[in-house]
Amino acid sequence: MTQQTLLCGPTLRFTGDPMIQPWHDVIHVDTNGGVLIEGGIIKAVADADRLRADHPQASVTTYGDGTLICPGFVDAHVHYPQTAIIASWGKRLIDWLNSYTFPEEMRLSDPDYADEIATRYLDLTLDHGTTTVASYCTIHPHSVDAIFTAAAARGQRIVAGKTCMDRNAPEGLRDTAQSAYDDSKALLERWHGNGRAFYAITPRFSPTSTPDQLAALGALWAEFPECLMQTHLSEQLDEIAWVRDLYPSARDYLDTYEVHGLIGDRALFGHAIHLDPREIDRICETGAALVHCPTSNTFIGSGLFDMAGLTARGIPCGLATDTGGGSSFSMLRTMAAAYEIGQLRGTPLHAAQLIWLATAGSARSLHQHGHIGTIEVGKEADLCILNLASTPAIAQRAAQAHDIWESLFTTIMMGDDRAVRDVWIAGNRRA
Ligand code: GUN
Ligand code: ZN
Repeated sequence: MTQQTLLCGPTLRFTGDPMIQPWHDVIHVDTNGGVLIEGGIIKAVADADRLRADHPQASVTTYGDGTLICPGFVDAHVHYPQTAIIASWGKRLIDWLNSYTFPEEMRLSDPDYADEIATRYLDLTLDHGTTTVASYCTIHPHSVDAIFTAAAARGQRIVAGKTCMDRNAPEGLRDTAQSAYDDSKALLERWHGNGRAFYAITPRFSPTSTPDQLAALGALWAEFPECLMQTHLSEQLDEIAWVRDLYPSARDYLDTYEVHGLIGDRALFGHAIHLDPREIDRICETGAALVHCPTSNTFIGSGLFDMAGLTARGIPCGLATDTGGGSSFSMLRTMAAAYEIGQLRGTPLHAAQLIWLATAGSARSLHQHGHIGTIEVGKEADLCILNLASTPAIAQRAAQAHDIWESLFTTIMMGDDRAVRDVWIAGNRRA
């Protein structure tokens, strides 16, 4: 008989979307919960005592009060090659790209360095409870092989793609319209659907692609519509003005993608802070997803994403660190920043909404919600077990909490990798 694993403890369960339904109707904590896993898949979610009685052969791990069994965190927009330059001081977007990002991405021309950074990045993010990321790579095809190979070695579900740039980037970090098409096609044929790997066609953003390159990638996406397409949109005002100069006939920033076939329900637009009404309407009509990167938006000084307004329009939104424009690898810290940006806009998110965004919401934006993001029968068993009293400062506040939500909120606001008690990937506990 296949080995069964039973995890017992307070368990987070979602039955709907707390961005459009009252959160207390659709987010639940089963105090005496149990999650039964077999062959990497969740087989049952029920009362722990009942599951223990029904499955006496299962190997049991019990997490006590003061913990929470959550879906593994899903980080919907990262640049793994920027791991080593995270938290670089004082530049706005275009300056920051030229001063820190491009020189570091150049270093990944060395395949050994790309392997080292991919390994370092996945180890760091797993320490923080993140089990799936959607990552940009560099222009070098081997940087894509590096992250998919490192994820496969850990059994992780992952989304990634070769970053394409054929202008406004230094010599050595530019491809061409044709090579971007050819390399991306070869990589997606190698990796998309290989185990838990998922490919995203990845033009970096309109300023670093010629119209020819955007058209070539639009044609590739039309050939492989099952893949995702990820890029950046309207992050900073200077960037938007630059796009206007580079694409004088475009109606707006989104139009630079739209006219080249780079919009659709599998499109993922990172940042999307300064949107015009037409852009919001088109995003709604096409079903494209937006990814909120709050620590990056405050760190690089980009602006305040309108989570409440955009989700009210029915737009799927994910949450992300945007490593290394973001200042943390932690999705807890990212939820805290999303809360703070909500406060500045007068629309603070509840702890239940924040944790949903960091798991199910991000999974949905990546079209991975059939596999991950919730603790439900049939889903892959990627789990993050939180310790809600991980430091003396958090523990003394949690001791005053009236309910689990107050306690979880303290960990969201003050927690880091020390709050991650255990990580399970496809039913295997990370050593
Ligand atoms: N826009 C284009 N490239 C990048 C990047 O690497 N990081 C961020 N934050 N914005 C970008
Ligand atoms: Zn980014």
